[in-house]
Amino acid sequence: MTTGFGILGAGMISSLHADALKNSPKARLVAVCDRVRERAEKLVREYAPEAKVYSDLDALLADPAVEVVSVVTPNALHTDAVVAAAAAGKHVLCEKPPAMSLADTDRMIDACRQAHRKLGVFVQCRLREPIRQMKRALDEGRFGRLLRVDAAMKWYRSADYYRSDAWRSDRRSGAGVTIQHAFHYIDLLSYLAGPAESVHARMANLGHPDIPIEDTVDAMIEFANGAIGSVAASTALWPGTDVRIEVFGDEGTAIMQGTAMAVWKFREERPEDESIRRCGDAAVATAAGSATALPSVDHQMVIDDCVDAIQCGREPAIPCHSVRPALEIALAMYRSARLGEPVRLPLVDENRVWED
Ligand SMILES: NC(=O)c1ccc[n+]([C@@H]2O[C@H](COP(=O)([O-])OP(=O)(O)OC[C@H]3O[C@@H](n4cnc5c(N)ncnc54)[C@H](O)[C@@H]3O)[C@@H](O)[C@H]2O)c1
Repeated sequence: MTTGFGILGAGMISSLHADALKNSPKARLVAVCDRVRERAEKLVREYAPEAKVYSDLDALLADPAVEVVSVVTPNALHTDAVVAAAAAGKHVLCEKPPAMSLADTDRMIDACRQAHRKLGVFVQCRLREPIRQMKRALDEGRFGRLLRVDAAMKWYRSADYYRSDAWRSDRRSGAGVTIQHAFHYIDLLSYLAGPAESVHARMANLGHPDIPIEDTVDAMIEFANGAIGSVAASTALWPGTDVRIEVFGDEGTAIMQGTAMAVWKFREERPEDESIRRCGDAAVATAAGSATALPSVDHQMVIDDCVDAIQCGREPAIPCHSVRPALEIALAMYRSARLGEPVRLPLVDENRVWED
């Protein structure tokens, strides 16, 4: 018996969700809701002709076949949808970033906790094999003293991408390379090296003079364990190259490029290292030049895990509370760039992040 999923938001990235559900042995797409009904109809036609179409969230939530809601609306609209879904007794998987503020994120977490519903987030890169291996090695202490973690996201998004919907260039709706695109990699650094103690960021618009948000961010993060982190992210760098995530300890170095392990070297080699060195696939597209140039398999892993979590009564692999620190770092980057100075965490008075 498969678990019924409803997708809320049938826009640009929804086909990835629908494809992941189509390929999943554990889940099936039973309904799609978009306030632009034709978008929901198109998605259903292409991926699940038997699924229901709705243009109103309440109608989606009233459908008993929907057991899990995937929230795939623009960033600033996630919170209300998640809270409503939990109140209707649905489990939720929410796209990243979970919300635009820590207060809204906490509201989502509380609503799902009180309703005894799961709440996972699609920061799907965490489930890529090279990241799993890095995390395991860090937990085992194989890197020795952690020295640096670096994320380099040298991507390209065209002016047409930014013009395709008003929210893509509106800061309060969730636009900006830091919170929108680099969020995945800020999350990876936080996941691998956190907790963070301070953030110092600079932001710029290098390649999109017509949009009023940053398309480039450079930031330094100081972690409580003494490691230094850096984020260099941009959507102005045509044609875009694969993301690199680099981990350096005094006992070893690991680098993921795209979805593949590029470097895996420890002073004390283990027999399994040779196969770990070959994990991932360098040929897989990772959205470097286009938002939709992504495989659905990473989303499918999040979906399959969520079904397992429901059936086994455990937490999902990426619970929302585990993504909150990445949001805090991203918000601190905005405040730091605005003030021109480092910002210490925890972030106090987070409403001031967006002040002009
Ligand atoms: N995990 C990833 O790799 C990844 C990649 C791209 C985008 N995303 C995230 O996915 C989300 C959606 O991004 P997108 O590019 O598809 O956006 P989009 O604007 O193309 O699509 C959003 C859709 O939601 C619909 N919508 C908005 N409010 C609604 C409401 N109240 N009820 C019903 N439908 C509503 C819109 O009509 C639109 O069709 C964002 O949170 C984004 O950050 C994640």
